[in-house]
Amino acid sequence: TGMFTFDRGYTSTASCRSKITYIDGDKGKLMYRGYDISYLATKKTFLDTAYLLLNKELPTKEELDSFKEEMAKRSFIHEGMKKLFDSFVDQAHPMAILSAGVSALSTFYFDHLDIDSPEEYMEMANRIIAKIPTIAAFSYRYSNGLPIIYPDLQKGFTENFLYMMRAYPHKHVDLTAIEIKALDTIFTLHADHEQNASTTAVRNLGSTHAHPYAAISAGIGALWGRAHGGANESVIRQLEMIGTVDRVDEFIARAKDKDDPFRLMGFGHRVYKNFDPRAKILKKIRDELIEELGIDSELVAVANKIENIALNDEYFISRNLYPNIDFYSGLILQALKIPKDMFAVIFVIGRTPGWISQWIELKEQETIKIARPRQLYLGPDDRTPIH
Ligand code: CMC
Repeated sequence: TGMFTFDRGYTSTASCRSKITYIDGDKGKLMYRGYDISYLATKKTFLDTAYLLLNKELPTKEELDSFKEEMAKRSFIHEGMKKLFDSFVDQAHPMAILSAGVSALSTFYFDHLDIDSPEEYMEMANRIIAKIPTIAAFSYRYSNGLPIIYPDLQKGFTENFLYMMRAYPHKHVDLTAIEIKALDTIFTLHADHEQNASTTAVRNLGSTHAHPYAAISAGIGALWGRAHGGANESVIRQLEMIGTVDRVDEFIARAKDKDDPFRLMGFGHRVYKNFDPRAKILKKIRDELIEELGIDSELVAVANKIENIALNDEYFISRNLYPNIDFYSGLILQALKIPKDMFAVIFVIGRTPGWISQWIELKEQETIKIARPRQLYLGPDDRTPIH
């Protein structure tokens, strides 16, 4: 029937009007609230960026200080949540625990179901941005049978997360400034990306007036998929599979072979056809990190060789296949000793301010229309009942 436009994957449908993020794929441009991503990633911190997304303006020094304090103060989770973590089997995937944990937050703050004022939105936003790293670190520690580490009020947002991941009760944790900066930049670069699949999931739930924690939990579910948040994990798995520098040529040849479904993970992008501005920033950080930490692994050598070949090869150049954000973020997270099954969780920590800002933008509209697409029905016509 010709009643509806068929738009598989919504590639040509705008689902909303938004003032948050601007992407120009041809020019390799990404802006949050009008600020270029490279400015935010190099001159500002993740918390500045989160504040900007939520409040539409960058914070002053005083505003940033009080936001930091707010984050630290709210980073603890209800002790009752520990029973929830206890109930999961060993090696449960941290994304599953995180999504359950965020959903469970709604049981502790249920009176906030019908939040409808800017103050209540902000309280919800602060609470969830502050608690997600704690739930994330607890997920990791529980799934590995490690004792949990509580947040340290003296530490900054990103440092605190790394500390909760790495600390052992008996061991002093050494966190270098460059490691904290690298992770903070990864968070900033993931903070929003307009109407991607997980943000769309969050907005869809928002349109039904579901609890905001249920909406964020749905976003986490969407991000778990390998076509979305799982790509940087695939990059490292592929590099490990290739294994040694002498095997690189064989896999480059396979990537170029039209009869072989093999693709180089971490290359190409649906929107960015000249370069991914986020990848450019991370490439620099990856180089600095590797130099400063003195990492000289076979994995890094394999990655470097692939990168060099691809950047100079006619096949990749003619198809605009450049290393994307996941190519470098996978390598950086590996250098930060973050286990692969936590990569998508890191993405969640970064993306949370974006999801919440989009949820608030939706709520602040004069009229909220429930997200309810139509379909083209292809099933049988009216059938004669048999009995
Ligand atoms: N390795 C080898 N060939 C490739 C690759 C690759 N990674 N990516 C695309 N091509 C080829 C493809 O075979 C096609 O060749 P031809 O024109 O001769 O048929 C041409 O390049 C265009 O590819 P496409 O699949 O039509 O491009 P797309 O825009 O639909 O896909 C992509 C974009 C990211 C899905 C794809 O490049 C890909 O599969 N990359 C590897 C996976 C990956 O790194 N994903 C993470 C993307 S970034 C996610 C984010 O922004 O968060």
